[in-house]
Amino acid sequence: MADTTAPTPLIDMRNISIAFGGIRAVDDASIDLFPGEVVALLGHNGAGKSTLIKILSGAYKRDSGQIFVNGEEASISNPRDAKKYGIETIYQTLALADNVDAAANLFLGRELMTGWGTLDDGAMEAEARKVMGRLNPRFQRFKEPVVKLSGGQRQSVAIARAILFNARILIMDEPTAALGPQETAQVGELVMQLKADGIGIFLISHDIHDVFELADRVCVMKNGQVVGTARTSDVTQDEVLGMIILGKCPPGAIPGPGGAQDRRLSSGNKAG
Ligand SMILES: Nc1ncnc2c1ncn2[C@@H]1O[C@H](COP(=O)(O)OP(=O)(O)O)[C@@H](O)[C@H]1O
Ligand SMILES: [Mg+2]
Repeated sequence: MADTTAPTPLIDMRNISIAFGGIRAVDDASIDLFPGEVVALLGHNGAGKSTLIKILSGAYKRDSGQIFVNGEEASISNPRDAKKYGIETIYQTLALADNVDAAANLFLGRELMTGWGTLDDGAMEAEARKVMGRLNPRFQRFKEPVVKLSGGQRQSVAIARAILFNARILIMDEPTAALGPQETAQVGELVMQLKADGIGIFLISHDIHDVFELADRVCVMKNGQVVGTARTSDVTQDEVLGMIILGKCPPGAIPGPGGAQDRRLSSGNKAG
């Protein structure tokens, strides 16, 4: 889509820094995310990806920088704040209650009750079928404890729970790391469905192939800094590997504070 008027980003993190002891885990990082967009965060172990995203989810409190949600400055200093802004994290562990079914997981901690003060299992299952039907129409195992479900199915239950909490921004940290190819494809379908619903997704992944399949843009970090940001259509996988390994920004990327710009571009841009 050609954008003549710039839409407001769902998330705009500006100049975020945090240090642990003497280590600048995240150093002046800026990143944004638009509705219906998948932005992948890439970089070696220790680059600062999880820390940056934990600042957004309220798990860590930044030392400096600002976070805007839908154009308004947000005050996020704990996970409850983040949820209030529609920011939900799908953890690698998924944090499901293994011994109960999908509906019970969706409503864990905010169960629907009947007028008599008993659990309204019928209403919860109906609601669960509605949400799951949208996300993963093939899912039928509503009567089984989630421990029996496949990795991809469990993932869809965790995402459905976030959606039910009115998530507009999903953070997925290595969602396919423990999944086989078929289940990875299933998560890909989930992501496409979420995009179609206008949800924005930050995807942390080591799998550059997955990233090029799913992400609209990539943001590469190294040593706590943003090397650069690029549309996946403007860069090659090799160029992105160069960003990750060498911290080198190709012509198709917008350099960040940590990006040594590729020589091919530098002539017109060098200050003094
Ligand atoms: N809670 C913490 N205490 C101390 N150091 C931390 C903490 N969390 C992360 N770090 C450090 O911050 C840096 C970035 O880590 P992290 O964000 O986990 O990187 P990534 O997710 O890209 O692998 C690393 O040097 C890591 O050791
Ligand atoms: Mg990490």
